[in-house]
Amino acid sequence: MPTPTDSPFRCLIIDLMHESLLPMLKEVGVEATYLPEVKKEDVPALLPEYQMLVVRSKMRITADLLNHAPNLKVLARAGAGVDNIDDGVLEARNVTLINAPEGNRDAVGEHTLGSLLTLFRKITQGDRQIRQGQWRREDNRGEEIGGKTIGLIGYGHMGKSFAKRLVGFDCEVLAYDRQPVENPFPHVQLASLEELQQQAQVLSLHLPYTKENHHYINNQVLSRFQHPLWLLNTARGEVLDHAALVEALKTGKVRGAALDVLENEKLKTLTPEQQERLSYLFEHPRVVLTPHIAGWTRESYVRINEVLVEKLKAYLTSRNN
Ligand code: GLV
Repeated sequence: MPTPTDSPFRCLIIDLMHESLLPMLKEVGVEATYLPEVKKEDVPALLPEYQMLVVRSKMRITADLLNHAPNLKVLARAGAGVDNIDDGVLEARNVTLINAPEGNRDAVGEHTLGSLLTLFRKITQGDRQIRQGQWRREDNRGEEIGGKTIGLIGYGHMGKSFAKRLVGFDCEVLAYDRQPVENPFPHVQLASLEELQQQAQVLSLHLPYTKENHHYINNQVLSRFQHPLWLLNTARGEVLDHAALVEALKTGKVRGAALDVLENEKLKTLTPEQQERLSYLFEHPRVVLTPHIAGWTRESYVRINEVLVEKLKAYLTSRNN
């Protein structure tokens, strides 16, 4: 932590954060400037004064932006994904990255389970019908998670959090990750992608977005699944080729989908092709959409701050030793 002889460690916060962040930073001796409303074009001019920047999604972190931040030591991403940071730019400038998947993984696990139940039990469809004066029970007969095989692609913080919540459901859980991963749960089996493709009836995506993962789930990958699939995406829209998804919904290869993330979440900037795909998803009775809120709860709002400040404390302590 900064000592009295150190120059102050100053932190600029450019996104809306839970109010607990300011006292927490003060507690570890960091002077924070909270500018949630700052326009992104005004950020570069502010940066030279700061050793730390806290960002959620206001702007991309590029080499060009970092050229305005000669004193930057720590970049805190208030969330899990770090896909808004250009590859290699932090390493090149020796800036330490801290992020907070431990802060919102519980929220993501719960949301993923909720979206699977919403799909299986036709909750949004039934709700819409009743509001239109229709009481249609047979049409809303659902299915159960029990007895199904749930496949996870990506078995890090988020995949594990969903898997943990499936323990009471009497289902098989298979997890595939391209990295070697620990498996803390006896009810989960680590599997190859091929095993997942042979057995899974539900596919839940929990992989980060990187250039290599762009459209990781595409026509070819989907076509190799042996069973018609229910697809859940709480990861990033870009890992899923939405043209392939629409095609698979049309053929029945994908039976339904719960999407918390989309290929383009700025709805005013959709290309005609993206608009056409989204319109198809709007009309589909077995598609459930939510606005990138899987990790977005009252609890995670605070916990993200706690995780960031814990990690910052560790950084400051190691720097002073
Ligand atoms: C949310 O999508 C996050 O990356 O935290």
